[in-house]
Amino acid sequence: MCGIFGTIGKRDNALSLVVEGLKKLEYRGYDSWGVTADVDGELFIDKHVGKISTVGTSRFEGIKSNMAVGHSRWATHGGVTDINAHPHFSHDRKVAVVHNGIIENYHEIREELGRDKFISETDTEVIPQLISHYLKTMEFKEAVLEATRRLKGRYAIVALHVGDHQLIAARRGSPLIVGVGNGEYFLASDIPAFLEYTQDVMYLNDNEMVVVNDHVEFINIETGELVEKRLINIDWKAESAEKGEYDHYMLKEIMEQKDTIHRAINQDSEEIMEIVKAIQAARGCFFSGCGTAGKVCMVGEYFFSIVADRHVNYAPASEFPIYHHFLKPESLLVVVSQSGETADVLEAMEVAKKKGTKVLSLINVGSSTIARQSDYSLLINAGPEKAVASTKAATSQMALLLLIAYAVNGELQEGRRVLAEVAGKINDMLNPRFLNYIKSVAEAIQKHENAYIIGKAQNYPIALEAAIKIQEVSYVHAEGFAAGELKHGPIALVTEGTPCISLIANDEVKDDILNNTIELKARGAHIIGIAPEKHEVFDDWIKVPDVGVASPLVNIIPIQLLAYYISICRGLDPDMPRNLAKSVTVK
Ligand code: AGP
Repeated sequence: MCGIFGTIGKRDNALSLVVEGLKKLEYRGYDSWGVTADVDGELFIDKHVGKISTVGTSRFEGIKSNMAVGHSRWATHGGVTDINAHPHFSHDRKVAVVHNGIIENYHEIREELGRDKFISETDTEVIPQLISHYLKTMEFKEAVLEATRRLKGRYAIVALHVGDHQLIAARRGSPLIVGVGNGEYFLASDIPAFLEYTQDVMYLNDNEMVVVNDHVEFINIETGELVEKRLINIDWKAESAEKGEYDHYMLKEIMEQKDTIHRAINQDSEEIMEIVKAIQAARGCFFSGCGTAGKVCMVGEYFFSIVADRHVNYAPASEFPIYHHFLKPESLLVVVSQSGETADVLEAMEVAKKKGTKVLSLINVGSSTIARQSDYSLLINAGPEKAVASTKAATSQMALLLLIAYAVNGELQEGRRVLAEVAGKINDMLNPRFLNYIKSVAEAIQKHENAYIIGKAQNYPIALEAAIKIQEVSYVHAEGFAAGELKHGPIALVTEGTPCISLIANDEVKDDILNNTIELKARGAHIIGIAPEKHEVFDDWIKVPDVGVASPLVNIIPIQLLAYYISICRGLDPDMPRNLAKSVTVK
């Protein structure tokens, strides 16, 4: 949530550089943007409501500075206004700060410093004001150190002080990475922002501060001591974080599923077996994640039951802390997260660690906080996922959970075989005819305000995930149900022509869900059947391959495309849905 990007170094067009970097982070928040730089000893600030992607490359031409910072906002405290946009600055306009997170004690600090000094409604404004307050008696570095010690809550900040040729950043709970270029440094919420300049990074951990000028100095905020860091090379190509030939990241990422399943299952057998041992030894295994990743965990619950004959418990990460009563040192928490930065997941991990419970994570961003704070971590290797709607990460996470379930059952090779076949079938599915057919179904659905999706067994969580996909990018009111639950209430919502999607597989529950589909049809529903075989109850049939237990991996693909095309038909931007951000780093 919120994108931060700063640079200091050899180039004198730092403001333009920051704008371009922020455009690559816009998926993190896009209700307003702002940049700041020290221009001839004065604080230059430009901030506005709207998307950074609309800012032209020439806007800052001629404004020379080799140090600048910017921010793309997802509002938490204070409405979406120019004044509330970041950077925020001290009343003497000497200190500017960008921030991602929430300062819980901002009210108290604001009262202490004097309310009349403040012009915005944000929590962030207390940070530059506090730094400015300490600057009366201290150097910039000490002032930032003192200020961060006062802050309660989660933050990643970058601060700039006019006349001081250095940027100072600090973090607790929100991501911030240092990119190390040739004669230049970058500070960013995520790697794609600086990938075209460098693949070398240094990680800032929680409760650490970094001072960046012609070199970097890491400091532990609590002790004030220097911290040694290693330079790490990131194996991501700049092009993989671009849209390429596609109009939207979402479509590009859906199409990438031709390859991503292969990459997810191509794991080191020894690492998988180490994890298998941890799962087998655990007394009480919990799966947890948020949103789509949470639905993946639910699918995993079914995979473990069907393939490995093993019971696991799922709880959404935001609900997980209450389960602390059941956690023991012998328990295992398995968390799933694309970004590896989701605040609710981090909190679930904190709760588990306090009880001595070990944590295994399935993550896409290897450099993320969750990956680094886990006892075991497996990368899904899906490559950068930038559309807010998670697509390729979800199928890779499901593939990896299924592979682990097979391995727990002593059938790792069989798992690989099954999943390699699924990957091949997904490749065949994603052809222009298939896409065009789904587009035509989307054109019909987009005229409706409501759509319902039903699934059973491992396709029940896919019905829930389908609802998230359609809601978030098309704003159609979509709801997913366990097929058998319809008759207990939801069927009352169905009227003549209501689009209802039925997710069917060739499995032991097929006849049950077909009966539930017929019940919907009898109430006038327009039935879209996603199934390997045609049935007379379907008004539209989206054919998917028969892949046995792995059906969620293929059934979700037409749903992702439907959501994408409904969004396009409605004239929306599927990559940047309203009110959302890609990485949710606040609770
Ligand atoms: C997915 O389409 C959503 N935008 C969202 O539910 C997402 O899956 C959730 O916020 C979890 O993110 P994570 O995988 O990065 O932890």
